[in-house]
Amino acid sequence: MAEHPAYPVGLRLTGRRVVVLGGGQVAQRRLPALIAAGADILLVSPEATPSVEAMADTGEITWERRAYADGDLADAWYALIATSDPEANTAASAEAERHRVWCVRSDDADAATAWTPATGHSEGVTVAVLTTNARGRDPRHTAAIRDAVVEGLRDGTLVAPHHRTRTPGVALVGGGPGDPDLITVRGRRLLAEADVVIADRLGPRDLLAELPPHVEVIDAAKIPYGRFMAQEAINNALIEHAKQGKSVVRLKGGDPFVFGRGMEEAQALAEAGIPCTVVPGISSSISVPGAAGIPVTHRGVAHEFTVVSGHVAPDDERSLVDWPSLAKLTGTLVILMGVDKIGRIAETLVAHGKSPDTPVALVQEGTTAAQRRVDATLATVAETVVAQEVKPPAVIVVGEVVTVGPDGAV
Ligand SMILES: C[S@@+](CC[C@H](N)C(=O)[O-])C[C@H]1O[C@@H](n2cnc3c(N)ncnc32)[C@H](O)[C@@H]1O
Repeated sequence: MAEHPAYPVGLRLTGRRVVVLGGGQVAQRRLPALIAAGADILLVSPEATPSVEAMADTGEITWERRAYADGDLADAWYALIATSDPEANTAASAEAERHRVWCVRSDDADAATAWTPATGHSEGVTVAVLTTNARGRDPRHTAAIRDAVVEGLRDGTLVAPHHRTRTPGVALVGGGPGDPDLITVRGRRLLAEADVVIADRLGPRDLLAELPPHVEVIDAAKIPYGRFMAQEAINNALIEHAKQGKSVVRLKGGDPFVFGRGMEEAQALAEAGIPCTVVPGISSSISVPGAAGIPVTHRGVAHEFTVVSGHVAPDDERSLVDWPSLAKLTGTLVILMGVDKIGRIAETLVAHGKSPDTPVALVQEGTTAAQRRVDATLATVAETVVAQEVKPPAVIVVGEVVTVGPDGAV
């Protein structure tokens, strides 16, 4: 066959018969996309991998447990030939040619009439990469190009501004605990599209430095609030910028709804009729202990973890935390915003039955270059915090999980 370039096309397979010969690794890799395309899939194979078998069990594909037989491709629009028997593959290929069925061959790309591109998806777009002709086929290279394009679109380093529908209104984006790599893909994309970013002190501050110069970055702590409460001033700033037609990102540390006042902002936006998108984030309550080698649960050690705020002391009438009940739990206690009050908290837990020897770890500025972990017990934590000069932000973990990792204090 002359070396003409392959002609790229998108097949619309909804309800159309696709025959897959062979139920091994190739089928396992290709079937999910065929299922997603709505194809009517017939798998012909004496055996299948457990994953392929599961697709048959759930009815996503029809599986005939037998070897290929001439005539199998008669009703097909498209075929994937991937058996481990080269003779069967060649015979099926010849049948496909006879019936004018486009077919992919896993064992011999030269003999195939179609090639599967390296594909990826981003925001309603499918990126498909093919080598131009058989001689230049290099699946790793095409996959690498696909990855670069999809990754670039997702993280905003590859921007296609003229064709992108920007998310209107305000996006409340959970930025994760601080490491810029720990924001979600969606969060990062929305940041890349923003005109205005209103950011907290906590969270991935490094990402702000990457924003192009036209993006207005506002430090939420510095919004003047005059006769308003600070939170009201932030809400007003979000509303005002959105009303000017700007794409606004409210970048918050961790997850917007874990002690993040995210719902207050979402409510204020709803009252003002401004569309609001919420993007979850990785909460420091789980990720910061994890980054310091502490799992919040561990088999045989803790079957529960409870996340509480320690921003008011246990005897403060504004506290909504039931500390006496928490003292009776056997699982892990994760305390946010608790550095200042940890002495009173530890006393209260011990007074209500927790052992003074219960391990405690404080993880300061987790996931950042400045991360540090300080270990103590409920009996010693108050003096340790002072002696070691532990400062917020820190996540405090109380419970036996503190000792299970390789770094655990004994
Ligand atoms: C107002 S709360 C916000 C929590 C955030 N929404 C989340 O899901 O992680 C702030 C507290 O979270 C904890 N925190 C957030 N980021 C942290 C980090 N990188 N290292 C340690 N603690 C952190 C600290 O306890 C801090 O006082």
